Amino acid sequence: MKNRVLGSSGIEVTPLGYGCMGVSHAYGDALPADEARAVIRDAYDAGYRFFDTAPAYLGETADGQVSNNEVLVGEALDDVKDEVVIATKFGVSINPDRSLNISSKPDEIKATVESSLGYLGVDRIQLLYQHRIDRSTEPEVVAGTVSDLMDAGLVEAWGISEVDEEYLRRAHAVCPVAAIENRYSMMARWHASLFPTLEELDIAYVAFSPMANGFLGGHFDQNLNFAKGDYRGDMPQYTPEGVERAKELVEYLNALAEAKGATPAQISLAWMLCEKPYIIPIPGSRNPERMRENLAAADIVLTPQEVADINAQLDSMDLMVFGGHAGK
Ligand SMILES: NC(=O)c1ccc[n+]([C@@H]2O[C@H](COP(=O)([O-])OP(=O)(O)OC[C@H]3O[C@@H](n4cnc5c(N)ncnc54)[C@H](OP(=O)(O)O)[C@@H]3O)[C@@H](O)[C@H]2O)c1
Repeated sequence: MKNRVLGSSGIEVTPLGYGCMGVSHAYGDALPADEARAVIRDAYDAGYRFFDTAPAYLGETADGQVSNNEVLVGEALDDVKDEVVIATKFGVSINPDRSLNISSKPDEIKATVESSLGYLGVDRIQLLYQHRIDRSTEPEVVAGTVSDLMDAGLVEAWGISEVDEEYLRRAHAVCPVAAIENRYSMMARWHASLFPTLEELDIAYVAFSPMANGFLGGHFDQNLNFAKGDYRGDMPQYTPEGVERAKELVEYLNALAEAKGATPAQISLAWMLCEKPYIIPIPGSRNPERMRENLAAADIVLTPQEVADINAQLDSMDLMVFGGHAGK
């Protein structure tokens, strides 16, 4: 398993990262704190050395306790912080009615970074993403603010999540971007259009929701009645129509998996790992066996021809997935 590099920052990470969001947020009730810490630690024990969190990954446990993902990550990895890279974010907070507040005003960025340092229990954030673009603040202003935080020694490298080319270029011109964190999976490939820009500017692609929120791991045939607070209940791939339209993909993925002696989840990750050496998927899981299964995808080799064949097949499919770009 060969490490990957976060663009021009030179920071090395495991070829897959562990997405910490799901222990607190978006998958129904948050796990109780002791279980959440144990799950994050399971990911470390499985071999992950790259962890993804955010201030917006807040949740509530079944008994009404607030689950602060950054705090849990900081506590779970407390004694191994020098062995891991922890990425966190700014620019999105959650309003009391659960709607999102998107703001990257300089003062808010600085305040968020201060609180993240405290929650994570670190002196410096190794990778800081802008979580969502705030159209009321120019990219040069955001990049300049991050640059100041770097000069102050509080941030080592930065990235932007759900970014487009124009914004990326403008931000990068002020302060070099190490990584983007955009949605990418076999069902959500529209950001592949950024590959030439990433190669030109030496920027890594951290792929979030790499299994289409679990769909590609085989959750497609499960009961579609998700619990309250489980965002999958609102995702098109999990509607009866979405499942129906993905049947061809599921069959294709199963056949590929059988041919390679792998699982569908592993093929869905190996495809992107073999597509570009700078793609770093960050699947989430609450299950240690699946964490190991996912990490082992880094050892599966798909040739450039096999990756091209998969992309050609995917091109021919009409899929529904959260994100709204018709799956391409
Ligand atoms: N920057 C952003 O805006 C943004 C947005 C969304 C997510 N993210 C990051 O990306 C990470 C992952 O994204 P995600 O949770 O949305 O989607 P994901 O990783 O595509 O899917 C996670 C789901 O897949 C299931 N799963 C994982 N491995 C599996 C396997 N081998 N077989 C079957 N099922 C499997 C998990 O279930 P079990 O727990 O039961 O294994 C979980 O329900 C998050 O934790 C977060 O850090 C970032």
